[in-house]
Amino acid sequence: MKRIGTPLSPSATRVMLLGSGELGKEVIIALQRLGVETIAVDRYPNAPGHQVAHRSHVIPMTDGEQLRELIKRERPHLVVPEIEAIATETLLDIEREGLAEVIPTARAANLTMNREGIRRLAAETLGLPTSPYKFADSLAELEAAAGRIGYPCVVKPVMSSSGKGQSLMRSAGDITKAWEYSQTAGRVKKSRVIVEGFIDFDYEITLLTVRAVGASGAVETFFCDPIGHVQVNGDYVESWQPQPMSAAAIATSREIAHKVTNELGGRGIFGVELFIKNDQVWFSEVSPRPHDTGMVTMCSQVQSEFELHARAILGLPVDTRLRTPSASAVIYGGVEAAGIAYENVADALRVPQSDIRLFGKPEAFVKRRMGVALANGANVDEARERAKLVAARVQPVALDQVRKTEAVKVI
Ligand SMILES: Nc1ncnc2c1ncn2[C@@H]1O[C@H](COP(=O)(O)OP(=O)(O)O)[C@@H](O)[C@H]1O
Ligand SMILES: [Mg+2]
Repeated sequence: MKRIGTPLSPSATRVMLLGSGELGKEVIIALQRLGVETIAVDRYPNAPGHQVAHRSHVIPMTDGEQLRELIKRERPHLVVPEIEAIATETLLDIEREGLAEVIPTARAANLTMNREGIRRLAAETLGLPTSPYKFADSLAELEAAAGRIGYPCVVKPVMSSSGKGQSLMRSAGDITKAWEYSQTAGRVKKSRVIVEGFIDFDYEITLLTVRAVGASGAVETFFCDPIGHVQVNGDYVESWQPQPMSAAAIATSREIAHKVTNELGGRGIFGVELFIKNDQVWFSEVSPRPHDTGMVTMCSQVQSEFELHARAILGLPVDTRLRTPSASAVIYGGVEAAGIAYENVADALRVPQSDIRLFGKPEAFVKRRMGVALANGANVDEARERAKLVAARVQPVALDQVRKTEAVKVI
């Protein structure tokens, strides 16, 4: 991008987010600060990103026709996927026809929306170390695949994210249950599964890797400090930065991240997920976009992963330096209701060096991520304790509960 225009004028630099959840919302805010015209798209109204963009649209993004129509109507310069569930074949066409630039590339979005595409690329084309794996399309194939890989092993629908449809099989007795769960809880019902050998890692990291225009004028690769995280049932609950690592493990991690992001190409941030045991590193998966565990960078880095993404996609320089040890902890809905309220926020923010993001999602589920607690500390342990305390203090309540307590107060 040679220049940035004025939003809502003929010179505007227009960016369309496909997916406007909490990650998209922060990317939009970063773009807004740089004077970019932003268009937020999601499958439901009043999504977090809708609330901060110049314009918003509600369409099923898996519908290629509707997606193409919208892109033709809005004429964004850049199309930025925030989620995996998108008609990526349409993105390949859009890019080929020169209608818009897809971030980082349409091929990257297409390959990573399906575990099979990215796993085969990483392991078979690039020769990166991964868990042993096989694919299965039926219960019988799953049984055969698990028999070859051995137990314990992990079963995941190839089209799924945030741990949906994923389970650990400890023995052959778990096969039927794992198969049934994979066929009902993934993004696409009745889909192929990947069976992965279980890696008994010491810890896992997200290595945020940025492809951005460097001083040379060419795209260069920049690394953030490693982010450690805890996952429960395949979903992130806590993350921190920096994760202490041996020099050998960090060097191997960077080498793997460089290889896979270089192959995917384009500009932007990537969340490279790696498993580590001593000095050994396995590639797990990669998101060609900001990563949920990277929300910690909103308080840990000079530029958050969202600012880094915004800058990288616009062709601007990036600074990936860490500022201070920090942590994040997820705030869940806890209730199943629309239009909930958050109590005790003042108390929560009395925790030293803490901050909070409430995403503004219109509807809460017990295990839906509604906000995130952030904290700095003298070290990662202190930051983690603080972030967890902030998250624990915030009390999501359903509106009828609020009315009841207010009625009591009045009486
Ligand atoms: N082969 C494996 N061995 C050990 N743990 C795994 C394996 N695969 C997944 N996990 C655990 O499950 C989490 C989610 O799996 P992942 O493949 O990243 O799915 P998602 O796309 O839903 O994030 C990982 O971060 C890790 O904690
Ligand atoms: Mg993952």
